[in-house]
Formats: sequence, C-alpha cells, structure tokens
Amino acid sequence: MDMLTIQGGTPLRGTVRVEGAKNAALPIMAACLVVRGQVQLAQVPDLVDVATMTQLLQSLGCVINRTKTQTATIDADSANRSFADYELVRRMRASICVLGPLLARFGKAQVSLPGGCNIGHRPIDLHLKGLAALGADLRIENGYVVATATRLRGADVELGGPSGSTVTGTCNVMVAAALAKGRTTIRSAACEPEVVDLGNFLNAAGAQISGLGTSVVEISGVESLQGVTHTILPDRIEAATFAIAAAATRGNILIPNARTEDLTSVIDALRVMGVRIVSSSAGLEVSCHSELQPVDIVAMPYPGIPTDTQAQFMACLCTVQGVSKVRDAVFPDRFMHAAELLRMGANLQRHGDLTVVHGGQRLTGASVMASDLRASAALVIAGLAATDQTTVRRIYHLDRGYARLEEKLTALGAPVSRVPDSSNTADVQPPHFKLQKRSERTIL
Ligand code: EPZ
Repeated sequence: MDMLTIQGGTPLRGTVRVEGAKNAALPIMAACLVVRGQVQLAQVPDLVDVATMTQLLQSLGCVINRTKTQTATIDADSANRSFADYELVRRMRASICVLGPLLARFGKAQVSLPGGCNIGHRPIDLHLKGLAALGADLRIENGYVVATATRLRGADVELGGPSGSTVTGTCNVMVAAALAKGRTTIRSAACEPEVVDLGNFLNAAGAQISGLGTSVVEISGVESLQGVTHTILPDRIEAATFAIAAAATRGNILIPNARTEDLTSVIDALRVMGVRIVSSSAGLEVSCHSELQPVDIVAMPYPGIPTDTQAQFMACLCTVQGVSKVRDAVFPDRFMHAAELLRMGANLQRHGDLTVVHGGQRLTGASVMASDLRASAALVIAGLAATDQTTVRRIYHLDRGYARLEEKLTALGAPVSRVPDSSNTADVQPPHFKLQKRSERTIL
C-alpha cells in the first residue's frame, strides 16, 4: 500500500512525454479477440488497468507477451473461453469491452456486469441495445450479461443516450459489426479519438469502417481480420492533466508528443484562463505569464472538455482568484474530489451537476484520500499548488491510469515521493491493485 507525499509550491518546469492512451489500449486489446494471428501493439501504457485487461484476455485463452517496455504481442488464436469472470471484471469497468468481441468470435458471451463506480451511474443499456440490433439475444442472469448470436447481421443502430453517446458502447458495437454479415450504420456514435484509434486498428486488420470521428459510422462486415502492428495514440487525458498541473503551479512545461488536435477544448479553456499555449513541431508548450482568470467549465462528450479532466480543472481553479463554475454533463455526480479539496482549504459549493469554485485563497497541504482515478490526479494537482506538504492515500486509483507519475513530476521539479502507507487509515488495498516495482515486474 503506497501513498504520495507532495511538497507544494514549486512551479513545474521542463519536458514530459505522455504514455499511450489507456482508453484506446483497453478496447484495442479486447478487439484482438477477433483478429487472426499475432497483433503487435506499440506504446501500450504500463498501467494497472492494462495489466487487468491482460489477465482477462489470458483467462480467455489468449497468449500475451510484453516483450519490452510499452510493447505487447497478443495472439488470440488459442482463445477458447467466452466467460469473463466477476473477479476480473469488477476491477475495471472497461472489461465490458470484451462483450462485443466475444460475441463476434464465439457467437456467445458471458460477461459479468461491471458493478458500482465512484463517478456515478454507469449503465450498459446502450451496449446491449446496439448488440441486440445486430441480432444478439442478451439477458441479465445472476449479475452476468448472457449473450448469444447465431450470426450477427448488419443493422441501423442508434447509440445516443441521455448524456450523449457511449464510448465503450460504440467500441463494442463497432467490433461486433466489423464481422457481422452486411452493412451497419451506427448513429450517435462516440467521436472520441480513442474510438477512432480502435477503428483505425480494425481497418488495418482488414475491416471496412468509415465515418470514424463523426457521429455516423458506417461498417461493412468482412469474413475475418488479420494480425497487424499498431501504435496506440498518445494519451490526451494525461497530456491535459500535465497542462492543467502546469497552470495550477504557474509553471512552464513542454509535452513533445501531445496531439494538439485531440485537446482543442482543453487548450481553449486554458487560454481563456490566461495560460499561454503554443503548439509547434517541438510539441505543446504550456506556460503562465500573468494572473489567471476564472472560467466556466462544462464537461461534455468529445470534442467538448473531457469529463476525465473535470476534476483536474476544479483543482486548478481553486487557485484562481474569482468565481468559476464546473459542471459535468456526462457524469453529473463526478465530484468525489470536492470533499477532499475542501479539506485543503478550497471554497466550493455543490449545486447538483454544478460546483461553484470561489478560488484565490492559497490551498494548504493535508492528508487526503483518492476515491477514483481522475480525483486522484486532482488531489495531486492541488498538492502541487498548496503550501507545505500533502499526502495522497489510496493511490492504487492513480496507478490505474497514470504510469510513474511521481517520477515525471519529480523530473519537472516538484518534490513528489511514493512511500509505503503504513497508517491504519489506509483501506485494505485490493491485491490486484498492487503495483509491482518495475524491478519486480516480470515482463514476459
Ligand atoms: C469511457 O467510459 C471512458 N473509459 C471513461 O474514462 C470516460 O469518462 C467516459 O468514456 C466518458 O468519456 C474508457 O474508455 C475505458 P460512456 P464509458 O459509456 O464508455 C451513459 C477514465 O477516467 N451511458 O461513454 O463507460 C453514462 O452513464 C474513465 O479514464 C448510458 O446511459 O462511458 C454516461 O453518462 C472514467 N448507457 C455517458 O453515457 C450506456 O449503456 C457516457 O458514458 C452507457 C453509457
């Protein structure tokens, strides 16, 4: 059980590279179930969630090797199970991404329902609606989705929900439709870059998908998909997290491999705050040269401000004089981080899906508890901006989506250390969350 200690008050300065995108790597790894032969993936991030997906695919019979840092070879030819066990699925909601591939591969699937989540209600009704439109028969039994399909067939599928489209739902339907008989049109498809990366991977393997990145995706089913080599796109959420951290500490950083085109709404919001952002061949440069201004943030589906950056923006806006408003139109209850920010001296008022931030007073270091992945990142940002020391506990949440964060922040000049948490306040860390030291980890 580890925790982070952060000595606040140092502006971040220097260069930091981001990893491959977690939310592209996970559905692409799952999609390997429908690809014949070996898939070679590059820029696979070294994360707990990737380790969980690896274990899940291995439990289904896939052979996976991490030949060197950030590359993986996946061979699903020997996959022989279509049952995704609760013990694995409960660790990571993205496990649901194997549902579509298993149906397409075996004509049947049993996938545990993911269970609760700290960021709010996360149904899978749109996943089931989309797969049913392709001809699957799905029912819920003893906490599992039990699905069968003699032959998936193309259809016109509507994936819009009350909060917009569904990212992993679009992934599930796209993979299943890639091997269905006939044409599929997915309307209200998710446009996130991670969904586009999955579509590009499938097309490289022989799929026929068009309209990627738009809300109407057309798919002509093919007989089979063949093994390919694919490089996962850079993680826009990690890049946004570092950009927001630079703003919160009034620093100056360069992110050489940030994809500006994936970050337009985040960049726009930071510029409205007065942050200087320059995109060049060297990468994305983020710097502060004047007092920052308050801003209203509304987290929306892509290309809006990502909900996965909402907590980080809130932490940063606590340091900005004036009144800012933060609303999450995707996950209206995604404010677990607010309670911990209050303990650091933030002045926040919650009104349903909106939190009003009365920023400007200096945050003070405290011992805080992470509750979910992006809330953890928000608490780290608050600690970087606060006076004296902050201790962030339960950082197994952080390790799900950020690789070696303490090393990267230290390289940017911030005194951040990962130390054992022997306190009795630390909850029992689920064994699967234990992040082995890099030296201990066996890369096969
Ligand atoms: C993906 O989750 C991401 N995870 C999340 O990132 C991200 O926050 C989310 O998309 C929104 O961008 C991965 O890609 C692995 P959704 P997903 O289905 O697919 C509602 C992180 O921190 N909805 O797009 O589970 C849902 O309640 C994680 O990296 C339905 O109503 O999210 C929500 O309001 C957290 N019915 C909205 O749609 C459904 O069947 C968006 O959810 C599915 C979703």
